[in-house]
Amino acid sequence: MKVLVTGGAGFIGANLVERLLAADAIDAVTVVDDLSTGEADRLAGSDGVELWKGSVLDAELLRDAAAGCDAVVHLAALASVPESLEQPVAYHEVNGTGTLHVLDAAREHGCQVIVASSAAVYGQHPPLPASESLPPQPTSVYASSKLAAEAHALAYGNAFDLPVLVFRFFNVFGPLQDVGHTYAAVVPAFVSAAVSGEPLLIFGDGQQTRDMVPVGSVVSVLTDAVVRRMTHTGPVNLAFGTRRSLLDIVAELEQILGRPLDRRHLPPRAGDVRHSQADHRLLRRLFPNLEPPDFTAELAATVDWFQHRRVAASTHIR
Ligand SMILES: NC(=O)c1ccc[n+]([C@@H]2O[C@H](COP(=O)([O-])OP(=O)(O)OC[C@H]3O[C@@H](n4cnc5c(N)ncnc54)[C@H](O)[C@@H]3O)[C@@H](O)[C@H]2O)c1
Repeated sequence: MKVLVTGGAGFIGANLVERLLAADAIDAVTVVDDLSTGEADRLAGSDGVELWKGSVLDAELLRDAAAGCDAVVHLAALASVPESLEQPVAYHEVNGTGTLHVLDAAREHGCQVIVASSAAVYGQHPPLPASESLPPQPTSVYASSKLAAEAHALAYGNAFDLPVLVFRFFNVFGPLQDVGHTYAAVVPAFVSAAVSGEPLLIFGDGQQTRDMVPVGSVVSVLTDAVVRRMTHTGPVNLAFGTRRSLLDIVAELEQILGRPLDRRHLPPRAGDVRHSQADHRLLRRLFPNLEPPDFTAELAATVDWFQHRRVAASTHIR
Protein backbone atom coordinates (compact mmCIF):
# COMPACT_ATOMS: atom_id res chain seq x y z
CA MET A 1 0.00 0.00 0.00
CA LYS A 2 1.03 3.58 -0.59
CA VAL A 3 -0.13 6.35 1.76
CA LEU A 4 -0.14 10.14 1.45
CA VAL A 5 0.04 12.09 4.72
CA THR A 6 -0.78 15.81 4.58
CA GLY A 7 0.82 17.74 7.44
CA GLY A 8 3.26 14.85 7.80
CA ALA A 9 6.07 17.10 9.06
CA GLY A 10 3.95 18.13 12.05
CA PHE A 11 3.88 16.55 15.51
CA ILE A 12 1.22 13.87 14.90
CA GLY A 13 2.16 13.54 11.22
CA ALA A 14 5.83 12.70 11.82
CA ASN A 15 4.89 10.12 14.47
CA LEU A 16 2.39 8.64 12.00
CA VAL A 17 4.87 8.46 9.12
CA GLU A 18 7.29 6.48 11.29
CA ARG A 19 4.52 4.06 12.33
CA LEU A 20 3.16 3.62 8.79
CA LEU A 21 6.62 2.78 7.44
CA ALA A 22 7.00 0.13 10.15
CA ALA A 23 3.75 -1.61 9.09
CA ASP A 24 4.19 -4.70 6.88
CA ALA A 25 1.22 -3.77 4.69
CA ILE A 26 2.62 -0.34 3.82
CA ASP A 27 5.34 0.04 1.19
CA ALA A 28 5.63 3.78 0.65
CA VAL A 29 4.68 7.06 2.33
CA THR A 30 4.56 10.53 0.75
CA VAL A 31 4.16 13.72 2.78
CA VAL A 32 2.71 17.02 1.58
CA ASP A 33 3.52 19.80 4.03
CA ASP A 34 4.13 23.52 3.54
CA LEU A 35 6.42 23.49 6.59
CA SER A 36 4.55 26.47 8.09
CA THR A 37 4.61 24.89 11.55
CA GLY A 38 6.11 21.55 10.49
CA GLU A 39 9.81 20.72 10.27
CA ALA A 40 11.51 18.47 7.74
CA ASP A 41 13.91 17.36 10.52
CA ARG A 42 11.04 15.60 12.28
CA LEU A 43 11.10 13.06 9.43
CA ALA A 44 14.79 12.30 9.91
CA GLY A 45 14.01 8.95 11.56
CA SER A 46 11.69 7.84 8.73
CA ASP A 47 13.90 6.37 6.02
CA GLY A 48 12.32 6.31 2.60
CA VAL A 49 9.58 8.90 3.13
CA GLU A 50 9.15 11.34 0.26
CA LEU A 51 8.51 14.96 1.34
CA TRP A 52 6.75 17.29 -1.09
CA LYS A 53 6.96 20.86 0.17
CA GLY A 54 3.68 22.52 -0.78
CA SER A 55 0.24 23.56 0.38
CA VAL A 56 -3.06 21.72 0.51
CA LEU A 57 -4.36 24.79 -1.31
CA ASP A 58 -2.40 23.65 -4.38
CA ALA A 59 -4.89 21.31 -6.06
CA GLU A 60 -2.50 20.22 -8.80
CA LEU A 61 0.30 19.30 -6.40
CA LEU A 62 -2.16 17.27 -4.31
CA ARG A 63 -3.44 15.43 -7.38
CA ASP A 64 0.13 14.52 -8.36
CA ALA A 65 1.09 13.49 -4.83
CA ALA A 66 -2.01 11.28 -4.45
CA ALA A 67 -1.39 9.38 -7.71
CA GLY A 68 -0.96 5.67 -6.96
CA CYS A 69 -1.95 6.09 -3.28
CA ASP A 70 -4.41 3.77 -1.53
CA ALA A 71 -5.09 6.17 1.34
CA VAL A 72 -4.69 9.81 2.35
CA VAL A 73 -4.42 10.79 6.01
CA HIS A 74 -5.27 14.48 6.10
CA LEU A 75 -3.62 16.16 9.10
CA ALA A 76 -2.48 19.47 7.54
CA ALA A 77 -4.16 22.37 9.29
CA LEU A 78 -3.77 25.70 10.96
CA ALA A 79 -4.37 24.81 14.58
CA SER A 80 -4.32 27.79 16.93
CA VAL A 81 -7.64 28.74 18.52
CA PRO A 82 -6.69 32.39 19.30
CA GLU A 83 -5.03 32.88 15.91
CA SER A 84 -8.16 31.59 14.16
CA LEU A 85 -10.12 34.50 15.63
CA GLU A 86 -7.57 36.94 14.22
CA GLN A 87 -7.28 35.27 10.79
CA PRO A 88 -10.68 33.66 10.17
CA VAL A 89 -10.45 33.60 6.37
CA ALA A 90 -6.99 32.01 6.36
CA TYR A 91 -8.27 29.32 8.76
CA HIS A 92 -11.34 28.70 6.66
CA GLU A 93 -9.20 28.43 3.53
CA VAL A 94 -6.56 26.01 4.82
CA ASN A 95 -8.82 23.88 7.02
CA GLY A 96 -12.02 24.01 4.95
CA THR A 97 -11.06 24.63 1.31
CA GLY A 98 -7.79 22.69 1.74
CA THR A 99 -9.84 19.66 2.83
CA LEU A 100 -11.96 19.94 -0.33
CA HIS A 101 -8.78 19.84 -2.44
CA VAL A 102 -7.60 16.76 -0.54
CA LEU A 103 -10.99 15.07 -1.07
CA ASP A 104 -10.93 15.89 -4.80
CA ALA A 105 -7.42 14.43 -5.18
CA ALA A 106 -8.50 11.30 -3.29
CA ARG A 107 -11.62 10.96 -5.41
CA GLU A 108 -9.65 11.20 -8.61
CA HIS A 109 -7.38 8.33 -7.53
CA GLY A 110 -9.95 6.25 -5.59
CA CYS A 111 -8.14 6.64 -2.23
CA GLN A 112 -9.58 6.17 1.23
CA VAL A 113 -9.46 9.48 3.17
CA ILE A 114 -8.98 9.89 6.92
CA VAL A 115 -9.59 13.42 8.19
CA ALA A 116 -8.34 14.87 11.50
CA SER A 117 -10.97 16.91 13.29
CA SER A 118 -10.93 18.14 16.86
CA ALA A 119 -12.80 17.97 20.18
CA ALA A 120 -12.94 21.76 19.80
CA VAL A 121 -16.15 21.24 17.77
CA TYR A 122 -17.95 20.33 21.05
CA GLY A 123 -17.45 23.88 22.37
CA GLN A 124 -16.83 25.11 25.90
CA HIS A 125 -19.26 23.15 28.07
CA PRO A 126 -20.50 19.92 26.48
CA PRO A 127 -22.13 17.37 28.76
CA LEU A 128 -19.42 14.82 29.64
CA PRO A 129 -18.34 12.41 28.40
CA ALA A 130 -18.76 14.20 25.03
CA SER A 131 -20.57 11.92 22.60
CA GLU A 132 -20.38 12.19 18.82
CA SER A 133 -24.18 12.57 18.77
CA LEU A 134 -24.09 15.93 20.60
CA PRO A 135 -24.88 18.98 18.48
CA PRO A 136 -21.58 20.78 17.79
CA GLN A 137 -21.12 24.19 19.44
CA PRO A 138 -17.99 25.72 17.89
CA THR A 139 -16.72 28.82 19.69
CA SER A 140 -13.74 29.60 17.44
CA VAL A 141 -13.06 29.66 13.72
CA TYR A 142 -10.56 26.86 14.30
CA ALA A 143 -13.49 24.75 15.58
CA SER A 144 -15.92 25.85 12.85
CA SER A 145 -13.30 25.21 10.14
CA LYS A 146 -12.73 21.70 11.54
CA LEU A 147 -16.49 21.15 11.52
CA ALA A 148 -16.52 22.24 7.86
CA ALA A 149 -13.70 19.78 7.12
CA GLU A 150 -15.69 16.96 8.79
CA ALA A 151 -18.85 17.85 6.90
CA HIS A 152 -17.02 18.02 3.56
CA ALA A 153 -15.50 14.58 4.12
CA LEU A 154 -18.82 13.00 5.12
CA ALA A 155 -20.56 14.68 2.16
CA TYR A 156 -17.98 13.19 -0.25
CA GLY A 157 -18.59 9.83 1.37
CA ASN A 158 -22.32 10.12 0.75
CA ALA A 159 -22.24 11.81 -2.65
CA PHE A 160 -19.39 9.91 -4.31
CA ASP A 161 -19.11 6.72 -2.25
CA LEU A 162 -15.61 7.83 -1.26
CA PRO A 163 -14.38 5.74 1.69
CA VAL A 164 -13.98 8.38 4.43
CA LEU A 165 -13.29 8.31 8.15
CA VAL A 166 -13.36 11.39 10.39
CA PHE A 167 -11.63 11.36 13.78
CA ARG A 168 -12.04 13.96 16.51
CA PHE A 169 -8.70 14.18 18.32
CA PHE A 170 -8.57 15.28 21.96
CA ASN A 171 -5.37 16.39 23.80
CA VAL A 172 -2.59 14.49 22.07
CA PHE A 173 0.90 14.46 23.62
CA GLY A 174 4.22 12.70 23.12
CA PRO A 175 7.63 12.83 21.48
CA LEU A 176 8.22 15.34 18.64
CA GLN A 177 5.73 17.86 20.08
CA ASP A 178 7.24 21.30 20.29
CA VAL A 179 6.79 23.47 23.31
CA GLY A 180 6.20 26.47 21.08
CA HIS A 181 3.54 24.50 19.25
CA THR A 182 0.51 26.58 18.34
CA TYR A 183 -1.99 24.17 19.92
CA ALA A 184 -2.29 25.02 23.62
CA ALA A 185 -0.47 21.89 24.76
CA VAL A 186 0.07 21.55 28.46
CA VAL A 187 2.22 18.40 28.50
CA PRO A 188 5.15 19.72 26.43
CA ALA A 189 5.02 23.00 28.36
CA PHE A 190 5.22 21.15 31.70
CA VAL A 191 7.84 18.62 30.56
CA SER A 192 10.05 21.27 28.97
CA ALA A 193 9.94 23.42 32.13
CA ALA A 194 10.53 20.38 34.36
CA VAL A 195 13.63 19.14 32.51
CA SER A 196 15.03 22.72 32.32
CA GLY A 197 14.56 23.27 36.07
CA GLU A 198 12.07 26.09 35.51
CA PRO A 199 8.75 26.52 37.35
CA LEU A 200 5.68 24.89 35.80
CA LEU A 201 3.16 27.57 34.86
CA ILE A 202 -0.38 26.55 35.81
CA PHE A 203 -3.26 28.71 34.62
CA GLY A 204 -5.91 28.73 37.38
CA ASP A 205 -6.12 26.16 40.17
CA GLY A 206 -4.85 23.22 38.11
CA GLN A 207 -8.02 21.21 38.79
CA GLN A 208 -9.11 21.50 35.16
CA THR A 209 -9.11 18.11 33.45
CA ARG A 210 -8.24 16.83 30.00
CA ASP A 211 -8.68 13.58 28.10
CA MET A 212 -4.96 13.16 27.37
CA VAL A 213 -4.10 10.76 24.56
CA PRO A 214 -0.56 9.56 23.85
CA VAL A 215 0.45 10.09 20.23
CA GLY A 216 1.45 6.41 20.04
CA SER A 217 -2.21 5.43 20.49
CA VAL A 218 -3.36 7.97 17.91
CA VAL A 219 -0.97 6.68 15.26
CA SER A 220 -1.85 3.05 16.07
CA VAL A 221 -5.51 3.76 15.41
CA LEU A 222 -4.73 5.71 12.22
CA THR A 223 -2.46 2.94 10.90
CA ASP A 224 -5.02 0.25 11.68
CA ALA A 225 -7.72 2.34 9.97
CA VAL A 226 -5.55 2.63 6.83
CA VAL A 227 -4.63 -1.04 6.71
CA ARG A 228 -8.24 -2.18 7.26
CA ARG A 229 -9.59 0.59 4.98
CA MET A 230 -12.09 1.57 7.69
CA THR A 231 -14.93 3.99 7.03
CA HIS A 232 -17.74 5.32 9.18
CA THR A 233 -20.82 7.39 8.49
CA GLY A 234 -20.12 9.97 11.23
CA PRO A 235 -17.23 11.40 13.25
CA VAL A 236 -15.41 9.16 15.75
CA ASN A 237 -13.82 10.41 19.00
CA LEU A 238 -10.18 9.32 19.19
CA ALA A 239 -9.66 9.27 22.97
CA PHE A 240 -10.03 6.83 25.82
CA GLY A 241 -12.56 8.53 28.11
CA THR A 242 -10.02 9.29 30.84
CA ARG A 243 -9.73 12.59 32.68
CA ARG A 244 -6.55 13.89 34.31
CA SER A 245 -6.21 17.19 36.09
CA LEU A 246 -3.17 19.35 35.46
CA LEU A 247 -2.15 18.72 39.09
CA ASP A 248 -2.34 14.94 38.43
CA ILE A 249 0.07 15.40 35.52
CA VAL A 250 2.48 17.43 37.68
CA ALA A 251 2.37 14.67 40.33
CA GLU A 252 3.14 11.99 37.72
CA LEU A 253 6.03 14.06 36.40
CA GLU A 254 7.42 14.37 39.94
CA GLN A 255 7.20 10.60 40.23
CA ILE A 256 9.01 10.05 36.91
CA LEU A 257 11.77 12.61 37.62
CA GLY A 258 12.09 11.62 41.30
CA ARG A 259 12.06 15.20 42.59
CA PRO A 260 9.51 17.86 43.54
CA LEU A 261 8.72 20.43 40.86
CA ASP A 262 8.35 24.14 41.36
CA ARG A 263 4.88 25.40 40.28
CA ARG A 264 3.61 28.89 39.65
CA HIS A 265 -0.14 29.54 39.45
CA LEU A 266 -1.28 32.27 37.04
CA PRO A 267 -4.82 33.66 36.54
CA PRO A 268 -7.09 31.35 34.51
CA ARG A 269 -7.01 31.99 30.75
CA ALA A 270 -10.18 33.38 29.21
CA GLY A 271 -11.93 30.79 27.06
CA ASP A 272 -10.11 27.75 28.49
CA VAL A 273 -12.30 24.66 28.68
CA ARG A 274 -12.71 23.51 32.30
CA HIS A 275 -13.15 19.79 31.66
CA SER A 276 -12.80 17.57 28.61
CA GLN A 277 -13.59 13.89 28.30
CA ALA A 278 -14.55 11.75 25.33
CA ASP A 279 -17.26 9.18 25.05
CA HIS A 280 -15.08 6.40 23.65
CA ARG A 281 -17.67 3.68 23.07
CA LEU A 282 -17.77 4.12 19.29
CA LEU A 283 -13.97 3.97 19.04
CA ARG A 284 -13.94 0.75 21.10
CA ARG A 285 -16.65 -0.74 18.90
CA LEU A 286 -14.76 0.05 15.68
CA PHE A 287 -11.34 -0.92 17.11
CA PRO A 288 -12.10 -3.76 19.53
CA ASN A 289 -8.45 -4.84 19.81
CA LEU A 290 -7.21 -1.41 20.78
CA GLU A 291 -5.04 -1.51 23.92
CA PRO A 292 -5.72 1.29 26.45
CA PRO A 293 -2.59 3.44 26.74
CA ASP A 294 -0.17 3.31 29.66
CA PHE A 295 -0.23 7.03 30.46
CA THR A 296 2.75 7.00 32.84
CA ALA A 297 4.97 5.08 30.41
CA GLU A 298 4.04 7.46 27.59
CA LEU A 299 4.71 10.48 29.80
CA ALA A 300 8.11 9.00 30.71
CA ALA A 301 8.88 8.54 26.97
CA THR A 302 7.98 12.20 26.43
CA VAL A 303 10.32 13.26 29.26
CA ASP A 304 13.06 11.12 27.74
CA TRP A 305 12.58 12.76 24.34
CA PHE A 306 12.79 16.26 25.84
CA GLN A 307 15.92 15.36 27.83
CA HIS A 308 17.74 13.97 24.79
CA ARG A 309 16.62 16.77 22.54
CA ARG A 310 18.06 19.25 25.03
CA VAL A 311 21.40 17.44 24.98
CA ALA A 312 21.37 17.40 21.16
CA ALA A 313 20.48 21.09 21.03
CA SER A 314 23.26 22.09 23.39
CA THR A 315 25.76 19.90 21.49
CA HIS A 316 24.76 21.68 18.32
CA ILE A 317 25.21 25.17 19.81
CA ARG A 318 28.73 24.37 21.00
N1 LIG B 1 -2.24 17.97 18.77
C1 LIG B 1 -3.48 17.87 19.24
O1 LIG B 1 -3.69 17.68 20.46
C2 LIG B 1 -4.67 17.98 18.32
C3 LIG B 1 -5.95 18.01 18.87
C4 LIG B 1 -7.06 18.09 18.02
C5 LIG B 1 -6.89 18.09 16.64
N2 LIG B 1 -5.63 18.08 16.12
C6 LIG B 1 -5.50 18.08 14.65
O2 LIG B 1 -4.55 17.11 14.27
C7 LIG B 1 -3.85 17.54 13.11
C8 LIG B 1 -2.35 17.48 13.36
O3 LIG B 1 -2.06 18.30 14.48
P1 LIG B 1 -0.58 18.50 15.06
O4 LIG B 1 -0.73 18.61 16.53
O5 LIG B 1 0.33 17.48 14.50
O6 LIG B 1 -0.26 19.95 14.49
P2 LIG B 1 1.05 20.49 13.74
O7 LIG B 1 0.88 21.98 13.64
O8 LIG B 1 2.27 19.96 14.39
O9 LIG B 1 0.90 19.84 12.30
C9 LIG B 1 0.17 20.44 11.25
C10 LIG B 1 1.02 20.34 10.00
O10 LIG B 1 0.29 20.89 8.91
C11 LIG B 1 1.18 21.67 8.12
N3 LIG B 1 0.38 22.66 7.39
C12 LIG B 1 -0.25 23.76 7.87
N4 LIG B 1 -0.86 24.41 6.85
C13 LIG B 1 -0.61 23.71 5.72
C14 LIG B 1 -0.96 23.88 4.36
N5 LIG B 1 -1.69 24.92 3.93
N6 LIG B 1 -0.53 22.95 3.47
C15 LIG B 1 0.24 21.88 3.86
N7 LIG B 1 0.62 21.70 5.13
C16 LIG B 1 0.19 22.58 6.06
C17 LIG B 1 2.14 22.30 9.13
O11 LIG B 1 3.35 22.73 8.54
C18 LIG B 1 2.34 21.14 10.10
O12 LIG B 1 3.42 20.32 9.72
C19 LIG B 1 -4.38 18.93 12.80
O13 LIG B 1 -5.36 18.79 11.80
C20 LIG B 1 -4.99 19.40 14.10
O14 LIG B 1 -6.04 20.31 13.87
C21 LIG B 1 -4.52 18.02 16.91
